[in-house]
Amino acid sequence: MTRPQRIAVLTSGGDAPGMNAAVRAVVRAGIAGGHQMLGVKHGYSGLISGNLTVLSARDVGGIVHLGGTLLGTSRCESMKAPEGQESALRHLRDQEISALVVIGGNGSQAGALALASAGVRVIGIASTIDNDLYGADVSLGTTTALDIALESIDRLRVTAAAHERAFLVEVMGRHCGYLAAAAAIAGGAEAVVVPEVATEPQEIESQLHAARLRGKSHAIVVVAEGAYHNADILLGYFQEHSQRIGYEMRASRLGHIQRGGAPGAFDRMLGSRLGVAAIEKLEAGAQGLLLGWCDGTVKSTALAEAAGRCRPLDLKMLELARTLAL
Ligand code: F6P
Repeated sequence: MTRPQRIAVLTSGGDAPGMNAAVRAVVRAGIAGGHQMLGVKHGYSGLISGNLTVLSARDVGGIVHLGGTLLGTSRCESMKAPEGQESALRHLRDQEISALVVIGGNGSQAGALALASAGVRVIGIASTIDNDLYGADVSLGTTTALDIALESIDRLRVTAAAHERAFLVEVMGRHCGYLAAAAAIAGGAEAVVVPEVATEPQEIESQLHAARLRGKSHAIVVVAEGAYHNADILLGYFQEHSQRIGYEMRASRLGHIQRGGAPGAFDRMLGSRLGVAAIEKLEAGAQGLLLGWCDGTVKSTALAEAAGRCRPLDLKMLELARTLAL
C-alpha cells in the first residue's frame, strides 16, 4: 500500500490502559506516512452507524498518559449479526476507507475477522486486561491492570495484618486466570483460585489452616472472577466454617477499578509500538493479522488463526504461587 489511503482506527470491547497510546501511534504513524486518518467513535457501534471523524496529529495529543479511550468503546452485539456487519461494510465503502485498525480483545478480533473475510484490509492490535488473547504473551492493558490489583492487595494486606484476618480478593479476567495467578505471585498471596483448575472450598480451607499453623497471622486469597467458586461463594462457605481456618474472613471485589487506571510505562510503550507496527504492516501490504507482543517483539498471527482462540494459562504460575506461599 504505497499510495495515500484513508485508514480508520477503532477501540472495541472493554477499555484497557494503553489504548490511547495505541490510537495516538496509529494516527501519527499514519499521518507521517502521508495517509488520511479517521477515528471510529464507540467501537463497532460507530462503524455500524457511520460515526467516523477525521483525526489530526493534534487531535490525539495529550492522551498517551490517559486510561480509557479517546474514541470511546462498546460491546456491540449487532456486530455479531449479518445485518450489523453489512452496515459496517457499507459505511467503510461509502467513506472510502481502505484499511481498518481494530484495538481490542477476543470479541473485537472476531469482528475484525468477519470484516477481513468480507474483503476489508484489517489489522488487529491485541488489547485486553484479561491477557487471554492467542497471539500475545502480554496484551495491551494487562500489566497496568495487574499493578492496580496489586496496589489494592497491598492495602488489603495491611488491614488483614492489623486484624489477623483472611481476605478473598476477586480480580477480573473473565474466563481466564492470568490476572489472578500473576496477582497471587506478585502480591504474595497464600492461595489462588482460577477457572482453569477446579478448586473446592475445602482445599482453600486446608491451605489457610496450614498457613495458620505455620505461624501466618493473616492471609490473602486471590480469586479469579471466572472461577467456579467465586469470592461470593467462597465467602459464604467460610462464614459458615470460620472456626476451621482460624481466620475471620472478608471479601473484596476489585471489578472495574482494574480497568480505568493510567497506563504504566510498559503499556504506553506497547501501545506505541503496536500502533506504529499496524501502519507498517498495512504499508507493506499485509492484512488480516493480529499484532501482539511475543518473545520481546511484535508478532503477527493470522486473524483466522487467533480469533476465537484463547491463550492457555501457564499452570506453572500456580505452582510458583504455591511454593512462594510457604
Ligand atoms: O474483558 C475485560 C473485562 O474487564 C473482563 O475482565 C470482565 O469480565 C469484563 O470485561 C467486564 O465487562 P463489562 O465492562 O462489559 O462489564
